[in-house]
Amino acid sequence: MAKLKVGVFGAARGRTMIYQLYNHPDAQLVAVCDKYRPLLDRCAEEAKDRGLKIGLYESFDDFIQHDMDAVVLANYANEHAPYAIRLLDSGRHVMSEVLTVATLDEGVRLAEAVERSGKVYAYAENYCYFNTTAEMRRRYRRGDVGELVHAEGEYIHDCSSIWPQITYGERSHWRNRMCSTFYCTHSLGPIIFATGLRPVRVTGFESPNLPFMRNLGYIGGTHGIELVELENGATVKSIHGFLKREPGSINYQMYCTKGSMETDRWENGKLHVYIEGERNCVGEHFAYVPSFDDEAAKGAGHGGSDFFTMHYFIRKILGDPEGEANSIDIYTALDMCLPGILAFRSIKSGGQPQEVPNFRDPAVREKYRGDTFCCFSEIAGDMYASPSPDGNEDVPDSVYEEVRRKWLAGEPG
Ligand SMILES: NC(=O)c1ccc[n+]([C@@H]2O[C@H](COP(=O)([O-])OP(=O)(O)OC[C@H]3O[C@@H](n4cnc5c(N)ncnc54)[C@H](O)[C@@H]3O)[C@@H](O)[C@H]2O)c1
Repeated sequence: MAKLKVGVFGAARGRTMIYQLYNHPDAQLVAVCDKYRPLLDRCAEEAKDRGLKIGLYESFDDFIQHDMDAVVLANYANEHAPYAIRLLDSGRHVMSEVLTVATLDEGVRLAEAVERSGKVYAYAENYCYFNTTAEMRRRYRRGDVGELVHAEGEYIHDCSSIWPQITYGERSHWRNRMCSTFYCTHSLGPIIFATGLRPVRVTGFESPNLPFMRNLGYIGGTHGIELVELENGATVKSIHGFLKREPGSINYQMYCTKGSMETDRWENGKLHVYIEGERNCVGEHFAYVPSFDDEAAKGAGHGGSDFFTMHYFIRKILGDPEGEANSIDIYTALDMCLPGILAFRSIKSGGQPQEVPNFRDPAVREKYRGDTFCCFSEIAGDMYASPSPDGNEDVPDSVYEEVRRKWLAGEPG
């Protein structure tokens, strides 16, 4: 059978997917698009070394003309939805990096585009596929610990030292302008994915913008929290941002009716499980390092999880039930992403809880069509809300010039 022809849009984070495609048994890299020429030049060299012929494009309008079955979106995190819609409408399958959408309006339109196209949309929330989070999902679905009562998801990553390398000193880079609750699916996603429970309400919290990030050009709150109520009444605390903790913390806890599961806070890859017996407060506790679903994941980026996003996407396109069961579809992706947008609305409204809509139901969508509320002015139009907790966006040009200098010199932030 001919291999699936896959293109990659965005060759920074997109390199992860490019590398997977160089060696994939069922798919091949056929084109890459990035407006930053040095990234394309690197792809050209690698392709030449491997004897591959790939299309290299600086412009998306040219890239979309290439003969491709599927496209990976690894472009700017706040610009995925419009490109996903164009690609789906052109008959391509799409895998999107985080985040899914920047506004509720985009959520409505993206859900409709997926349905209209009949193509596969896969959300590449790789944190759902750690050995630990995948195991939590397996145990939860098997009923080992009962039904969820409360969960916590945590993605603490102080990016200040790498800020020059990931924002290039661009004032308008999405990372400099994102609100504190925007990047919420690493922390919230694995809980939603494990339980299959839908969020119904969210309240947002954030800390002030602090000098160590402002001096690098970031204007949003230092960390964000989404307090989420799920459809069964369970609660979730999702926390993420630039808190001081080294190494960074990626951790999850699930308290359920028959026990609990939690990742080890310092020993990566280890899971603790408590399963209660017949008597209250008496049960079995054990800790272990779960194995991966697929040995091929060993050595892949982000604790092996990067392997599975592409793996399940391709398997789903090929009609394999394993891909269907494990790839994250548009509705689940929106369940992970919309709470971040709505938590920001909650913060801006002085802490009022916000209803999280279910876009599986077309009737529910109407209320949110045209709702462009967000922290990115070019997307929001007159529904713009400043990501800055105190509304002060006034950062001198010299800050960005210094970050740019550091980027070009390869210096840390
Ligand atoms: N899942 C993870 O663990 C993880 C890790 C890092 C980044 N990401 C995600 O990957 C995506 C990309 O992030 P990044 O770290 O590579 O940084 P980035 O957003 O700065 O890079 C995006 C790349 O896309 C290119 N690009 C953007 N718009 C373009 C356009 N219209 N035409 C041509 N090229 C364009 C840029 O030149 C750049 O090289 C984001 O969505 C981010 O959230 C995910």
